[in-house]
Amino acid sequence: MGNGVEQDKLLQSIRYKRGSLQLLDQRKLPLEITYVDIRDSKDGWTAISDMVVRGAPAIAVAASLSLAVEIANLRDFNGASNDAALFISNTLDYLVCSRPTAVNLSDAANKLKEHIQKVAANASEAPTVFEAYIEVAEIMLEDDVGSNKAIGNFGASFLQKQLTDRRKISVLTHCNTGSLATAGYGTALGVIRSLHEKGVLERTYCTETRPFNQGSRLTAFELVHDNIPATLIADSAAAALMKAGRVDAVIVGADRVAANGDTANKIGTYSLALSALHHGIPFYVAAPLTSIDSSISSGEEIVIEERSAKELLYTHGGMGEQVAASGISVWNPAFDVTPATHISGIVTEKGVITKEGTDSFDIKAFIINTASHSVQKHAI
Ligand code: MRU
Repeated sequence: MGNGVEQDKLLQSIRYKRGSLQLLDQRKLPLEITYVDIRDSKDGWTAISDMVVRGAPAIAVAASLSLAVEIANLRDFNGASNDAALFISNTLDYLVCSRPTAVNLSDAANKLKEHIQKVAANASEAPTVFEAYIEVAEIMLEDDVGSNKAIGNFGASFLQKQLTDRRKISVLTHCNTGSLATAGYGTALGVIRSLHEKGVLERTYCTETRPFNQGSRLTAFELVHDNIPATLIADSAAAALMKAGRVDAVIVGADRVAANGDTANKIGTYSLALSALHHGIPFYVAAPLTSIDSSISSGEEIVIEERSAKELLYTHGGMGEQVAASGISVWNPAFDVTPATHISGIVTEKGVITKEGTDSFDIKAFIINTASHSVQKHAI
């Protein structure tokens, strides 16, 4: 795969410099490295909806930056600061509709809108508002990597403390939560990277993650790239692997975590949690605080995206050859919800949230308690 510099570039899902944005076309990995030019929010919306870019944190950053490049290249905007703020707000609302389940995108949009309202209230000219938007969207890109590194460190240290009887730890992960799903390093895969850097990772098992194969195409690609000991399994092999005693912990990412800890993540996560519980294996979620939706009390309120039947009927996420019988009907939810009861801990950039002897997590209390101990630069 070439030298180290080239390899690092391979894992960059988002290439940005002011006025220019390119997204790695993840639908074509691992066979083809192609970047798609994103010129405006319309391009951003399509890239997210069509899975050119995917993964909750990456979607949020890509959407915010697609509007940043549109603004940077705006030529004839005739309006005052309030008109600029309205344009930004409407465009963010449009971008939020590209995929419904991951909360990171609406969280980013709300924070951006709030910030821009404040700027517009104190400025009379549109360029001041536009400049402020671009600056904040750029900081979001930087913040994501910082928060993933913190998640990696907290998660790896926590796992070591929890599994003191193991010299080295074997973990099972699902979907892709790495550099490709974020601005860099990754969440659950960030914890795995950190375990590997500390020399305590025995092996990572990654699931294929049918039907879009984020595991076999993307996670396997990242693991091979980083020389992390790894084995690919079919989704349906996970319970047998756990029964064979080969998994010390399961660690996955999240698309939306409710206030009680119920977690929406890639379809199949719930089955893994059930198997882990049955086999007495701890099950962890790794996610930035931007994946937490404190406005909903439980996972019941999470809207689950249903994707095209083509993803099951054809290979390559619906773009390849037909594999299923013509005429069969299909149910293709992209995510499921794992109840908090089945989750042992939630690893964030501020530390690990545990249940303290109860059935659910008190995430609001955790956020309040850790608010004063900031570990990263915040965009807004
Ligand atoms: O449909 P996808 O590929 O966007 O789903 C991604 C996942 O479910 C990830 O586990 C989640 O977004 C966390 S990524 C750090």
